Amino acid sequence: MVKRESHSSDHLTGGSHRRIMTTKLATAIAAFFLLASIAVIIAISTVQVKQRTYLSPGLKYGIVLDAGSSRTTVYLYEWPAEKENNTGVVTQTTKCPVKGPGISEINAEAWNSLKKCMENITSFIPPHQHKSTPISLGATAGMRLLKQKNEKQSNDVLFEIQKYLRSLPFDFHNASIISGQEEGLYGWITVNYLMGNFLEKNIWNAWVHPHGARTVGSLDLGGASTQIAFTAPSDTTGEDLIKISLYGYEYNVYTHSFLCYGKNEAEKQVLAELVKLSNDWLHIYHPCYPLGYKTTMNGEDIFSSECTKHRTPTGYSPEKSFTFIGQSNPAACKSLVNRIFDLSSCQGKEYCSFNGVYQPPVTGDFMAYAGFFYTAGILDLKGSNSLEKFNSSVWSFCSKDWKTLKTTFNITEKHLKSYCYSANYVHTILADGYKFNADNWEKLDFQKEVNKTSIAWSLGYMLAQSNMIPAEAKLLKLPISNSVFATLLFLFSALTIITLMFLIITLVRICY
Ligand SMILES: *[C@@H]1O[C@H](CO)[C@@H](O)[C@H](O)[C@H]1NC(C)=O
Ligand SMILES: *[C@@H]1O[C@H](CO)[C@@H](O)[C@H](O)[C@H]1NC(C)=O
Ligand SMILES: *[C@@H]1O[C@H](CO)[C@@H](O)[C@H](O)[C@H]1NC(C)=O
Repeated sequence: MVKRESHSSDHLTGGSHRRIMTTKLATAIAAFFLLASIAVIIAISTVQVKQRTYLSPGLKYGIVLDAGSSRTTVYLYEWPAEKENNTGVVTQTTKCPVKGPGISEINAEAWNSLKKCMENITSFIPPHQHKSTPISLGATAGMRLLKQKNEKQSNDVLFEIQKYLRSLPFDFHNASIISGQEEGLYGWITVNYLMGNFLEKNIWNAWVHPHGARTVGSLDLGGASTQIAFTAPSDTTGEDLIKISLYGYEYNVYTHSFLCYGKNEAEKQVLAELVKLSNDWLHIYHPCYPLGYKTTMNGEDIFSSECTKHRTPTGYSPEKSFTFIGQSNPAACKSLVNRIFDLSSCQGKEYCSFNGVYQPPVTGDFMAYAGFFYTAGILDLKGSNSLEKFNSSVWSFCSKDWKTLKTTFNITEKHLKSYCYSANYVHTILADGYKFNADNWEKLDFQKEVNKTSIAWSLGYMLAQSNMIPAEAKLLKLPISNSVFATLLFLFSALTIITLMFLIITLVRICY
């Protein structure tokens, strides 16, 4: 263009002079538009970057203390701030197990360990975010039992804990006893949130309720209580059914918590049954304990609990001691464990688990975590297995004597001696209680975490407390995400520039 211009200037005429003027004008206009377009692009990208930094001040954090019956666990969760209301974005940063016992029997050692845990957790959170980090404590069955036994003592414990939590640099929310139903429901929310069952992105990048999506049932086993929760058909009504709305979709959730049927309290019930059946308290044969194992307990160890105090035998006093002698007898262990489940009270009722409790038939997949997972894990039964395999593994474990067990497993004796009992407990509550059978046993998945986040009610509790799982589906109205918007804007600008340049070149050509 420039070359032709200089070439034509060799033979100046009136017409060519005007053409040169027009060419110069067109070049100036083209340059102006080009510069303007570049300026617009820079402006758009600056706004985008600014908006992005404004929208994402990085991560947000939340702390939940799960005050269980045998220990407290502190969980730290994190999520990208701008995705607060999306599903499946919260992950576990870390967790800290406080040395036992649980807060219902809190002592100096547990207090120290709790403080150490809180220091550890604090170190993960940037100091300027401390004030905006919510902290809550939920106490479960251990404290429910203490409240039954001594309400003043349970209030005093909670008061002390609250005072301590308020003294920390965080945003204190709540420290109280949660009900069994809440515990079951929060566990169910956790399972389904982590598995992404509530919402999914469709091809338009909009959050929608997954078509035909099924939720997964939740089976939690703690030290003092156990919870079952699953969705029942929407026309099922009855006790323990809760209608809950999440992201604009209504779920009909059945949930029941069995107090005194956690792993440890149920074991006390089993011991109490044995004592009742025995005449000689210094020679009580325990079919679930391994052959070659012998232990002596105080009456207090068994009968001071709210779960067994009704079962004290005649002639009992707290100073009395009881000696249990292991037998490694799988069949007798199974029928002993069965004794703590009242199945006869369900006779004649159509939908019933045990102890006369209403329960619709179990349907769909189930996640069995916490104590269920730990018991299955020892028996090499993680994940899904057939009922036959489960039974044969339990049977084989329970047949081993103490010496064999000690050389095979590297776990503390305190726990090792009880695994035959807990395996039979798990088998009994699932098969005889909840009525899982050979056909649907494989629907049970024994796991402890999903994507490195523990399956525990504490996550669902935090989500609910922070309104992070809205009842309505506001999110469904956001058809495109920021990045899609930015890409479209960029394409639009690029097209505009190309069009402008094309127009200018054409204009220049016409002027010639
Ligand atoms: C999440 O939802 C709540 C309640 O609907 C709202 O107040 C909040 O601004 C939302 N947060 C984000 C990051 O969209
Ligand atoms: C604290 O949590 C308990 C149990 O979930 C609930 O009943 C209570 O209303 C909560 N209190 C506040 C102030 O949020
Ligand atoms: C469990 O396995 C044992 C040994 O293989 C067998 O005797 C018993 O009948 C089985 N129980 C059930 C409920 O299948």
